Amino acid sequence: MSNKLLVKNAKQVVLICNNGEKFLTKDGMQKLCVIENSSLVIGSDGLIKDIGPASTIDFQYAGVLFDKVIDATGMCVIPVVLFDYCVSGLVDAHTHPVWAGDRVHEFAMKLAGATYMDVHRAGGGIHFTVEHTRAALPSTLLASLTGRLGRMQRAGTTLVECKSGYGLELQTELKMLEVIETARRTLPINISSTYCGAHAVPKGKTVAEATTDILKVQLPQLRERMSAGALRVDNIDVFCEQGVFDLSSTRSILQAGLDMGLNINFHGDELHPMNSAQLGAELGALAISHLEEVTDDGIAAMATAKTAAILLPTTAYILRLPQPRARDMLEAGVIVALGSDFNPNAYCCSMPVVMHLACVNMRMSMPEALAAATINAAYALGRSHTHGSLEVNKHGDLLVLNAPRWEHLIYQLGGHQELIRYVVIRGNVV
Ligand code: NIG
Ligand code: FE
Repeated sequence: MSNKLLVKNAKQVVLICNNGEKFLTKDGMQKLCVIENSSLVIGSDGLIKDIGPASTIDFQYAGVLFDKVIDATGMCVIPVVLFDYCVSGLVDAHTHPVWAGDRVHEFAMKLAGATYMDVHRAGGGIHFTVEHTRAALPSTLLASLTGRLGRMQRAGTTLVECKSGYGLELQTELKMLEVIETARRTLPINISSTYCGAHAVPKGKTVAEATTDILKVQLPQLRERMSAGALRVDNIDVFCEQGVFDLSSTRSILQAGLDMGLNINFHGDELHPMNSAQLGAELGALAISHLEEVTDDGIAAMATAKTAAILLPTTAYILRLPQPRARDMLEAGVIVALGSDFNPNAYCCSMPVVMHLACVNMRMSMPEALAAATINAAYALGRSHTHGSLEVNKHGDLLVLNAPRWEHLIYQLGGHQELIRYVVIRGNVV
């Protein structure tokens, strides 16, 4: 059988990790492995088969058949592959991409001074989206999800986490997870699916009632569908926040998810310090998102537990929140990852924009931001053994950039369709 793809003679191949690391902390992030004038081979199984000096690969594969050859002379390949430069595909570790209803009017309210919680308490925000999502047909949700994932893919995302959480009751949460499952089975982009039934307390219910509904009704039904093979769900999420789910209800929901084999990956310490980081570390969470209000103790606990911090620069930017403490986390040895937080509040499909904001507003370096948006985001999703860097036997997901150096992926603000010449997923140009 012929090999799938030969990316020939890229000016730079950015490997991210070279020694089988499953995540990078500060020192490793600052020394990304970049190899010059190299070629990369993806085999018929869609996995990376070989990476090496262009002359060696040329000699070794002379006469071998490929379904496609990309002549990347003068380009970069990163986990996104760039013309002239080849990079690993980007990983977006936090999105809410399944919803109906338009919230552009709330952007105007926020610009006029309303806070996120002002809008939420006035019945807008998540509640507005819940009402519209409950009423929407699965086919409508699938069509909009497909469009949104397509935009993410064109901006270089090859693995994306997708949450439910705009149902807050069994029927709609399952409807959302089924739509995500259909997308996972039919679209090229890799998906990690997250049950987020505790995204808000449904109108008319107390926290205790909502928690009981999740524990006694929603999770058991989910488990049944998962064991029947009808649904694959990877992670469990809770919005742990004052006025939403407190620490003790968060603990019981996350623990129940863990007992069903789900990875813990939840919203914590966003608007108020809640000791979410300490809770996540204690439960062995793979990741916690937001963390704008995390304490020093929380940072230390996450570093020790190897719980990744998924930082979301778009949210802090749009809501004018304090910036997540990326530098303090990196200095403390935390595994820092990035996500777009795509949702009706933060309408951003682009990980290159997210990396740019992380560098300018959170003071990360460009190699740190790239590692956070590839190998570390894959770690946060429990996928860094197969995704997130260009290494032999990992998935052939990469970008070819038409740029003189890979850093253009972060430096250029917007207009990435021109810059990202090819997006490759499992060896197929998509
Ligand atoms: O991550 N903080 C909670 N959830 C989302 C917002 C969802 C929404 O406003 O619809 C977030 O920013
Ligand atoms: Fe979120």
